[in-house]
Amino acid sequence: GWLTPYLYLYQSFWYSPTEIQAINNFQNHFQAKDNDVIIASVPKSGTTWLKALTYAIVNRQHFPSPENHPLLNYNSHELVPPFELVIYDDIYHGKIHDLSNMTEPRLFGTHIPFTSLAKSIEETNCKIIYICRNLFDTFISTWIFVNKIMPEILPTLPLEEAFERYCKGVIGYGPSWNHILGYWKESVARPSKVLFLKYEDLKEDINFNVKKIAEFLDFPFTKEEENDGVIENIIKLCSFEKMKELKVNKYGTMGEGRIVENRYFFRKAEIGDWVNYLSPAMVEKLSKIIEEKLSGSVPSRLLTS
Ligand code: PPS
Repeated sequence: GWLTPYLYLYQSFWYSPTEIQAINNFQNHFQAKDNDVIIASVPKSGTTWLKALTYAIVNRQHFPSPENHPLLNYNSHELVPPFELVIYDDIYHGKIHDLSNMTEPRLFGTHIPFTSLAKSIEETNCKIIYICRNLFDTFISTWIFVNKIMPEILPTLPLEEAFERYCKGVIGYGPSWNHILGYWKESVARPSKVLFLKYEDLKEDINFNVKKIAEFLDFPFTKEEENDGVIENIIKLCSFEKMKELKVNKYGTMGEGRIVENRYFFRKAEIGDWVNYLSPAMVEKLSKIIEEKLSGSVPSRLLTS
């Protein structure tokens, strides 16, 4: 059955028990500020990249020289901490973190679906940048990731079994299509609140998207900055090739209590790697589900694999 011992349905999405506890605390305790920026995504949709880009864009005046940039020494999940950990980091000790020392604008990440965000996020002027990625690659990236390090999100299952569960929506923070839909709807209703991006679009034209992010956050680049190569430097600093080779990302680890090796956040970063894993029948099945769940609700360019 799909009520496994590992994942539970909470507010219409699937989570591990520790995540439900963390989300509950986040909902009860998080107080958003007007200038907060939130990076939201289904896991494995380009979060690490978008966090780095956003951090670099927002803090560019503090770190004009690429040589001593914090992104060279810290993993982007440390610089842009996830709500799921920061509010209730010590899931094992029940401690709620004091965020009063965070520099502003505060940047946070989250995989929590729109409808389960803390109320203060909707009530304040804080902004959300959402990134989605084609679900075939997202599924494969997740399967490989959790097999390595996070069996509680999607227990180490053979690909076929994990896929069957995925098709029923059963994956941590799933159903993924409802996750996408929730943020998409809000980006249409409140375009100044939610910027909706796609991983593949960033790959295709990163320059355009970096400018778009900066404008959305009210940190637009000046002509002078453009001429000085500021955008180019940010793009280079956050590129997969650069980040993957950094010492912190090659050998570092992340998180107290749940030690994750940073190198697992950098795998291939390709579009269409799923062809090496999914059979034609699997592709047909998932295509149909995505079509059924999302077509008519989101632009068709978001559905393509
Ligand atoms: S997580 O755990 O949700 O934060 O993972 P997430 O960062 O969303 O997704 C990981 C995939 O993104 C690729 N990646 C990148 N792509 C482009 N540029 C940069 N800088 C970058 N960093 C990570 C990473 O390789 C994962 O994709 P796959 O397909 O598994 O390689």
